[in-house]
Amino acid sequence: MILDVIKNTNLTGDIWEMELTGPMLVKPIRPGQFINIRVGESHEHVLRRPISIGAVDRDTPSLTIVFRVVGSGTKWLSEREVGDQLDALGPLGRGFPLPKEGARVLIVGGGVGVPPLYELAREVRKLTEQVDIILGFGSGSDCFWEDEFRQLGRVRVATEDGSSGIKGYVTDAIPNDQIWDYLYTCGPKPMLRALKQHFDKVPIKGYVSLEEHMACGVGACHGCTCHTADFQETKRICKDGPVFSWEEVAL
Ligand SMILES: Cc1cc2nc3c(=O)[nH]c(=O)nc-3n(C[C@H](O)[C@H](O)[C@H](O)COP(=O)(O)OP(=O)(O)OC[C@H]3O[C@@H](n4cnc5c(N)ncnc54)[C@H](O)[C@@H]3O)c2cc1C
Ligand code: FES
Repeated sequence: MILDVIKNTNLTGDIWEMELTGPMLVKPIRPGQFINIRVGESHEHVLRRPISIGAVDRDTPSLTIVFRVVGSGTKWLSEREVGDQLDALGPLGRGFPLPKEGARVLIVGGGVGVPPLYELAREVRKLTEQVDIILGFGSGSDCFWEDEFRQLGRVRVATEDGSSGIKGYVTDAIPNDQIWDYLYTCGPKPMLRALKQHFDKVPIKGYVSLEEHMACGVGACHGCTCHTADFQETKRICKDGPVFSWEEVAL
Protein backbone atom coordinates (compact mmCIF):
# COMPACT_ATOMS: atom_id res chain seq x y z
CA MET A 1 0.00 0.00 0.00
CA ILE A 2 1.37 3.42 -0.89
CA LEU A 3 1.61 6.17 1.72
CA ASP A 4 2.57 9.76 0.87
CA VAL A 5 5.01 11.58 3.11
CA ILE A 6 3.38 14.85 4.18
CA LYS A 7 5.88 15.77 6.89
CA ASN A 8 9.29 14.49 8.02
CA THR A 9 11.03 16.48 10.72
CA ASN A 10 13.81 15.95 13.20
CA LEU A 11 12.31 15.98 16.70
CA THR A 12 15.56 15.78 18.63
CA GLY A 13 18.96 14.13 18.20
CA ASP A 14 18.45 10.99 16.11
CA ILE A 15 14.64 10.93 16.56
CA TRP A 16 12.38 11.75 13.60
CA GLU A 17 8.66 12.31 13.25
CA MET A 18 6.99 11.46 9.94
CA GLU A 19 3.39 12.09 8.94
CA LEU A 20 1.90 9.92 6.22
CA THR A 21 -1.34 9.79 4.33
CA GLY A 22 -2.94 7.26 2.00
CA PRO A 23 -5.66 4.65 1.55
CA MET A 24 -4.55 2.78 4.70
CA LEU A 25 -6.34 5.50 6.65
CA VAL A 26 -9.76 4.14 5.66
CA LYS A 27 -9.02 1.03 7.75
CA PRO A 28 -9.67 0.82 11.48
CA ILE A 29 -6.40 1.36 13.38
CA ARG A 30 -5.94 0.25 16.97
CA PRO A 31 -3.40 1.84 19.31
CA GLY A 32 -0.33 -0.43 19.43
CA GLN A 33 -0.52 -1.56 15.82
CA PHE A 34 2.40 -0.98 13.45
CA ILE A 35 3.25 -0.57 9.79
CA ASN A 36 5.95 -2.54 7.99
CA ILE A 37 7.83 -0.26 5.61
CA ARG A 38 9.90 -1.18 2.58
CA VAL A 39 13.12 0.83 2.78
CA GLY A 40 15.78 1.69 0.20
CA GLU A 41 15.63 2.08 -3.56
CA SER A 42 17.31 -1.20 -4.49
CA HIS A 43 17.25 -4.74 -3.10
CA GLU A 44 19.96 -4.09 -0.51
CA HIS A 45 17.27 -4.13 2.22
CA VAL A 46 15.40 -7.37 1.87
CA LEU A 47 13.34 -6.94 5.03
CA ARG A 48 10.77 -4.28 5.71
CA ARG A 49 11.17 -2.20 8.87
CA PRO A 50 8.37 -2.28 11.47
CA ILE A 51 7.46 1.07 13.06
CA SER A 52 4.59 1.68 15.48
CA ILE A 53 1.71 3.95 14.62
CA GLY A 54 2.10 6.86 17.04
CA ALA A 55 -0.94 8.97 16.22
CA VAL A 56 -3.90 8.83 13.90
CA ASP A 57 -5.67 11.91 12.62
CA ARG A 58 -8.94 11.00 10.89
CA ASP A 59 -9.62 14.56 9.72
CA THR A 60 -6.47 15.13 7.63
CA PRO A 61 -6.41 12.02 7.33
CA SER A 62 -2.91 10.99 8.40
CA LEU A 63 -0.89 8.78 10.66
CA THR A 64 2.30 9.75 12.46
CA ILE A 65 5.31 7.60 13.20
CA VAL A 66 8.34 8.45 15.31
CA PHE A 67 11.59 6.59 14.78
CA ARG A 68 15.16 6.58 15.97
CA VAL A 69 17.88 6.32 13.32
CA VAL A 70 19.79 3.17 14.31
CA GLY A 71 20.88 1.76 10.95
CA SER A 72 20.60 2.15 7.20
CA GLY A 73 16.83 1.53 6.99
CA THR A 74 15.85 4.20 9.48
CA LYS A 75 18.53 6.54 8.03
CA TRP A 76 16.86 6.13 4.64
CA LEU A 77 13.50 6.94 6.26
CA SER A 78 14.93 10.10 7.83
CA GLU A 79 15.99 11.27 4.35
CA ARG A 80 12.48 11.07 2.85
CA GLU A 81 10.98 14.36 1.82
CA VAL A 82 7.46 15.72 1.56
CA GLY A 83 5.90 14.25 -1.58
CA ASP A 84 7.94 11.02 -1.46
CA GLN A 85 6.03 7.77 -1.32
CA LEU A 86 6.51 4.76 0.96
CA ASP A 87 5.42 1.20 0.36
CA ALA A 88 4.01 0.02 3.70
CA LEU A 89 1.93 -2.90 4.93
CA GLY A 90 -0.56 -2.29 7.68
CA PRO A 91 -2.01 -1.66 10.07
CA LEU A 92 -0.48 -4.89 11.43
CA GLY A 93 -0.56 -6.79 14.71
CA ARG A 94 -2.76 -6.88 17.76
CA GLY A 95 -3.11 -3.55 19.55
CA PHE A 96 -3.77 -2.66 23.18
CA PRO A 97 -7.11 -3.74 24.68
CA LEU A 98 -8.79 -0.66 26.14
CA PRO A 99 -9.59 -0.31 29.87
CA LYS A 100 -13.04 -0.29 31.44
CA GLU A 101 -14.72 3.08 31.72
CA GLY A 102 -13.53 5.07 34.76
CA ALA A 103 -10.55 2.76 35.38
CA ARG A 104 -7.29 4.02 36.89
CA VAL A 105 -4.66 3.74 34.20
CA LEU A 106 -0.88 3.95 34.26
CA ILE A 107 0.97 4.32 30.94
CA VAL A 108 4.75 3.89 30.90
CA GLY A 109 6.94 4.41 27.84
CA GLY A 110 10.67 4.28 27.31
CA GLY A 111 12.53 5.92 24.39
CA VAL A 112 11.05 5.01 21.01
CA GLY A 113 8.56 2.83 22.92
CA VAL A 114 6.72 6.07 23.73
CA PRO A 115 4.96 6.74 20.35
CA PRO A 116 2.35 3.93 20.29
CA LEU A 117 1.33 4.91 23.82
CA TYR A 118 0.28 8.34 22.62
CA GLU A 119 -2.55 7.07 20.43
CA LEU A 120 -3.40 4.67 23.27
CA ALA A 121 -3.53 7.56 25.78
CA ARG A 122 -5.90 9.44 23.48
CA GLU A 123 -8.27 6.47 23.35
CA VAL A 124 -7.94 5.80 27.09
CA ARG A 125 -8.74 9.42 27.86
CA LYS A 126 -12.13 9.00 26.19
CA LEU A 127 -12.91 6.34 28.81
CA THR A 128 -11.37 7.73 31.97
CA GLU A 129 -9.85 10.90 33.43
CA GLN A 130 -7.59 8.93 35.76
CA VAL A 131 -4.55 8.65 33.57
CA ASP A 132 -0.97 8.71 34.85
CA ILE A 133 1.84 8.73 32.33
CA ILE A 134 5.54 8.10 32.92
CA LEU A 135 8.00 8.76 30.10
CA GLY A 136 11.58 7.53 30.38
CA PHE A 137 14.53 8.75 28.32
CA GLY A 138 18.31 8.61 28.52
CA SER A 139 18.57 12.38 28.78
CA GLY A 140 16.36 15.47 28.62
CA SER A 141 17.60 16.09 25.07
CA ASP A 142 16.07 12.75 23.98
CA CYS A 143 12.66 13.72 25.32
CA PHE A 144 9.76 14.19 22.88
CA TRP A 145 5.95 14.50 22.94
CA GLU A 146 5.93 15.46 26.64
CA ASP A 147 3.59 18.41 26.00
CA GLU A 148 1.29 16.25 23.86
CA PHE A 149 1.00 13.68 26.67
CA ARG A 150 0.33 16.48 29.21
CA GLN A 151 -2.97 17.14 27.39
CA LEU A 152 -4.03 13.59 28.26
CA GLY A 153 -2.98 12.89 31.84
CA ARG A 154 -0.59 13.55 34.71
CA VAL A 155 2.91 13.21 33.26
CA ARG A 156 6.16 12.37 35.01
CA VAL A 157 9.44 12.24 33.13
CA ALA A 158 12.44 10.18 34.22
CA THR A 159 15.87 10.58 32.68
CA GLU A 160 18.87 8.41 33.40
CA ASP A 161 21.21 11.40 33.67
CA GLY A 162 18.73 13.54 35.64
CA SER A 163 18.81 16.37 33.07
CA SER A 164 15.01 16.45 33.00
CA GLY A 165 12.39 15.26 35.49
CA ILE A 166 13.30 12.59 38.02
CA LYS A 167 16.82 11.16 37.87
CA GLY A 168 16.67 7.44 37.28
CA TYR A 169 14.50 4.87 35.54
CA VAL A 170 10.75 4.89 35.00
CA THR A 171 10.35 2.66 38.07
CA ASP A 172 11.88 5.47 40.18
CA ALA A 173 9.08 7.78 39.00
CA ILE A 174 6.18 5.56 40.08
CA PRO A 175 4.36 7.16 43.03
CA ASN A 176 4.08 4.77 45.99
CA ASP A 177 0.78 6.12 47.25
CA GLN A 178 -1.34 5.34 44.20
CA ILE A 179 -2.96 2.27 42.73
CA TRP A 180 -4.02 1.53 39.19
CA ASP A 181 -6.25 -1.03 37.49
CA TYR A 182 -4.31 -1.15 34.23
CA LEU A 183 -0.70 -0.70 33.19
CA TYR A 184 0.23 -0.25 29.54
CA THR A 185 3.87 -0.17 28.56
CA CYS A 186 6.26 -0.19 25.62
CA GLY A 187 10.03 0.17 25.67
CA PRO A 188 13.24 -1.79 26.13
CA LYS A 189 12.86 -5.32 27.55
CA PRO A 190 14.75 -4.58 30.80
CA MET A 191 12.26 -1.76 31.46
CA LEU A 192 9.28 -4.07 30.88
CA ARG A 193 10.83 -6.68 33.18
CA ALA A 194 11.51 -4.10 35.91
CA LEU A 195 7.91 -2.89 35.73
CA LYS A 196 6.54 -6.39 36.01
CA GLN A 197 8.72 -6.98 39.07
CA HIS A 198 7.65 -3.66 40.58
CA PHE A 199 3.98 -4.66 40.38
CA ASP A 200 4.61 -8.30 41.23
CA LYS A 201 2.28 -8.46 44.24
CA VAL A 202 -0.25 -5.93 42.98
CA PRO A 203 -3.56 -6.76 41.28
CA ILE A 204 -3.09 -4.82 38.06
CA LYS A 205 -3.73 -5.82 34.46
CA GLY A 206 -0.47 -5.33 32.59
CA TYR A 207 -0.05 -5.09 28.82
CA VAL A 208 3.35 -4.92 27.14
CA SER A 209 4.27 -4.19 23.55
CA LEU A 210 7.28 -6.26 22.49
CA GLU A 211 9.88 -5.60 19.80
CA GLU A 212 11.80 -8.15 17.81
CA HIS A 213 13.56 -8.26 14.47
CA MET A 214 10.91 -9.06 11.88
CA ALA A 215 10.86 -10.59 8.44
CA CYS A 216 7.42 -11.07 6.85
CA GLY A 217 5.57 -9.06 9.53
CA VAL A 218 2.34 -10.98 8.93
CA GLY A 219 2.79 -14.25 10.82
CA ALA A 220 4.07 -16.47 8.00
CA CYS A 221 7.78 -16.98 8.70
CA HIS A 222 8.07 -17.41 12.50
CA GLY A 223 11.05 -15.05 12.39
CA CYS A 224 9.88 -12.92 15.32
CA THR A 225 8.93 -15.34 18.06
CA CYS A 226 9.00 -14.94 21.83
CA HIS A 227 8.34 -17.53 24.53
CA THR A 228 5.15 -17.85 26.50
CA ALA A 229 5.59 -17.29 30.25
CA ASP A 230 5.82 -21.07 30.91
CA PHE A 231 8.37 -21.50 28.07
CA GLN A 232 6.17 -24.26 26.62
CA GLU A 233 5.20 -22.43 23.43
CA THR A 234 6.22 -19.58 21.20
CA LYS A 235 4.21 -16.59 20.01
CA ARG A 236 4.75 -14.54 16.88
CA ILE A 237 5.26 -10.94 17.89
CA CYS A 238 4.03 -9.57 14.54
CA LYS A 239 0.77 -11.51 14.45
CA ASP A 240 -0.05 -12.64 18.02
CA GLY A 241 1.38 -9.34 19.34
CA PRO A 242 3.16 -6.99 19.49
CA VAL A 243 0.88 -6.34 22.47
CA PHE A 244 0.55 -9.15 25.03
CA SER A 245 -0.79 -9.46 28.52
CA TRP A 246 2.37 -9.55 30.64
CA GLU A 247 1.25 -12.82 32.19
CA GLU A 248 1.20 -14.40 28.75
CA VAL A 249 4.84 -13.97 27.69
CA ALA A 250 8.32 -14.41 29.14
CA LEU A 251 9.97 -11.02 29.62
C1 LIG B 1 6.43 -3.94 16.31
C2 LIG B 1 7.62 -3.02 16.27
C3 LIG B 1 7.41 -1.66 16.38
C4 LIG B 1 8.50 -0.79 16.33
N1 LIG B 1 8.27 0.54 16.46
C5 LIG B 1 9.29 1.41 16.40
C6 LIG B 1 9.05 2.80 16.53
O1 LIG B 1 7.91 3.26 16.68
N2 LIG B 1 10.11 3.63 16.45
C7 LIG B 1 11.40 3.15 16.29
O2 LIG B 1 12.35 3.95 16.25
N3 LIG B 1 11.66 1.84 16.19
C8 LIG B 1 10.64 0.95 16.23
N4 LIG B 1 10.89 -0.39 16.09
C9 LIG B 1 12.28 -0.84 15.86
C10 LIG B 1 12.62 -0.63 14.38
O3 LIG B 1 11.86 -1.55 13.62
C11 LIG B 1 14.11 -0.87 14.13
O4 LIG B 1 14.87 0.08 14.83
C12 LIG B 1 14.41 -0.76 12.64
O5 LIG B 1 13.85 -1.85 11.96
C13 LIG B 1 15.91 -0.73 12.42
O6 LIG B 1 16.16 -0.70 11.03
P1 LIG B 1 17.54 -0.16 10.47
O7 LIG B 1 17.69 -0.67 9.07
O8 LIG B 1 17.66 1.30 10.67
O9 LIG B 1 18.61 -0.80 11.41
P2 LIG B 1 19.36 -2.22 11.23
O10 LIG B 1 20.55 -1.96 10.37
O11 LIG B 1 18.40 -3.25 10.81
O12 LIG B 1 19.80 -2.44 12.70
C14 LIG B 1 20.58 -1.47 13.43
C15 LIG B 1 20.70 -1.95 14.87
O13 LIG B 1 19.42 -1.98 15.52
C16 LIG B 1 19.11 -3.30 15.99
N5 LIG B 1 17.69 -3.58 15.72
C17 LIG B 1 17.07 -3.53 14.52
N6 LIG B 1 15.76 -3.86 14.65
C18 LIG B 1 15.56 -4.11 15.95
C19 LIG B 1 14.42 -4.52 16.72
N7 LIG B 1 13.22 -4.73 16.20
N8 LIG B 1 14.60 -4.71 18.05
C20 LIG B 1 15.77 -4.52 18.62
N9 LIG B 1 16.90 -4.14 17.95
C21 LIG B 1 16.79 -3.93 16.65
C22 LIG B 1 20.01 -4.21 15.18
O14 LIG B 1 20.31 -5.39 15.88
C23 LIG B 1 21.25 -3.38 15.00
O15 LIG B 1 22.06 -3.40 16.15
C24 LIG B 1 9.83 -1.29 16.16
C25 LIG B 1 10.03 -2.67 16.04
C26 LIG B 1 8.94 -3.52 16.10
C27 LIG B 1 9.17 -4.98 15.99
S1 FES C 1 7.95 -11.61 11.08
FE1 FES C 1 7.28 -13.40 10.02
S2 FES C 1 6.07 -14.39 11.55
FE2 FES C 1 6.58 -12.48 12.45
